[in-house]
Amino acid sequence: MTVNVGVIGTGNIGQDHIRRLSGTLSGARVVAVTDIDAVRAESVTAALPGARAVPRAQELITAADVDAVVVTSWGPTHEEYVLASIAAGKPVFCEKPLATTADACLRIVDAEQAHGSRLVQIGFMRRYDPGYRAMREVVTRGGIGAPLVVHCAHRNPSVPESYTSDMAVTDTAIHELDTLRWLLDEDFSSAQVLKAKRTTRAAAHLADPQILLLETVSGVRIDIEVFVNCAYGYDIGCEVVGEFGVVRLSDPVDVAVRRAGGHTVAITQDWRDRFGRAFDVEMQEWVDSVAAGHLTGPSSWDGYAAAVTADALLEAARENRVAAVSMKDRPDFYA
Ligand SMILES: NC(=O)c1ccc[n+]([C@@H]2O[C@H](COP(=O)([O-])OP(=O)(O)OC[C@H]3O[C@@H](n4cnc5c(N)ncnc54)[C@H](O)[C@@H]3O)[C@@H](O)[C@H]2O)c1
Repeated sequence: MTVNVGVIGTGNIGQDHIRRLSGTLSGARVVAVTDIDAVRAESVTAALPGARAVPRAQELITAADVDAVVVTSWGPTHEEYVLASIAAGKPVFCEKPLATTADACLRIVDAEQAHGSRLVQIGFMRRYDPGYRAMREVVTRGGIGAPLVVHCAHRNPSVPESYTSDMAVTDTAIHELDTLRWLLDEDFSSAQVLKAKRTTRAAAHLADPQILLLETVSGVRIDIEVFVNCAYGYDIGCEVVGEFGVVRLSDPVDVAVRRAGGHTVAITQDWRDRFGRAFDVEMQEWVDSVAAGHLTGPSSWDGYAAAVTADALLEAARENRVAAVSMKDRPDFYA
C-alpha cells in the first residue's frame, strides 16, 4: 500500500519532510500541500509530479485522496489542524509542539480517545536517533544499574534576534524534555531554572546560557545546559550516571582526521545535519505504521507531558523558585 500524504506548511521542515517522503523513503507519496503563503505552496509542487497545491488546510485534510496528514505549520496552528484530522479519522504526524499549551494538548488527547484508536504522532525525532536508541537499550537492560543523575547539553551556534529566553525551554530543550522521559521511562516531579553568567554574544533581552534542573518521580536529578550562542557548532550531549556505570551519547562522526600533530572530528553545524538520519527513520516508521493501521511513535500524551514540563520550567524561571510538574494520570489508552 502507498500512503497518500497531505502536508500543511511548506516552510523549512515541511520541505524537508516532503523531500523525504517523495525521495528518500518508501511506501508514501505527497499528493497535496498547503500553506498560508500560496506562492510558496505552488513553488513546492513544481518539483513534485502528481501533487497539487490546495488553498486551505481544511480542504486538504478532508480530501478523498489524502490518507494521512503531516502538520509542519507554525506551532499556534497545530491544535486546529490535529483536531480536524482526528475529526476526519485520518492519521496525523504533527511537528513539535503538539499545541502551545498543556490544556490544548489535553483537548487533542480527549478527541483522540473519543475517536477510539491512536491517530496522532508527534515529531520527537530524537527517539529515532541511533545514539539515543543505543543509550536507552543500555539503560533499560540495566547495563549501568539504576540511573541516578543525568547531564545534558543543547548548544546552538547562534539564534536570531527574535529568539526569547522562554524559547530556550519551549523550542530548544523541549526535545530533551521528551527524550529524557522516554530514556528514563518516568515522569518529572519538579523543575527549576538557573541563569548562568551571560555570554556577550547574546542579544540584550536573552538569558544565555541557562541551566534547567529537573527531578524525576523516583528522584533522578537532571541538569540541561541550554546555550544557544555557543559559536562553535550544534552540539548535543547526554550522559546518564548509573549505580555502577555511565552511558554517554557519542558524537555522530563518520571519520576522525589525524594530521599535523592533531586529531580532529567534525562538529555538526545545525539540527538537520545532526538528526538527519533520525528524521528519516522517524518518518519511515510513521509511514509503515500508518500502512499497518497501528501507530507506535510518540503520542499526543507525550506531547502533553512535554507541554506540562515546559510550563513548570517557565513558571520556575518567572518566579525564581522550584516548581512542581503536575501531570494528570495517564489514561490506559496511552499505556
Ligand atoms: N523536530 C524538529 O527538530 C523541528 C525542527 C524545525 C522545526 N520544527 C517545528 O516545525 C514547525 C515549523 O517550523 P519551520 O522551521 O518549518 O517554520 P517555517 O516558518 O519555516 O515554516 C512554517 C510554514 O507554515 C506556514 N504556515 C503558517 N501558518 C499556517 C497556516 N495557518 N496554515 C498553513 N500554513 C501555515 C508558513 O507560511 C510557513 O511556510 C514548528 O512547529 C517548529 O517548532 C521542528
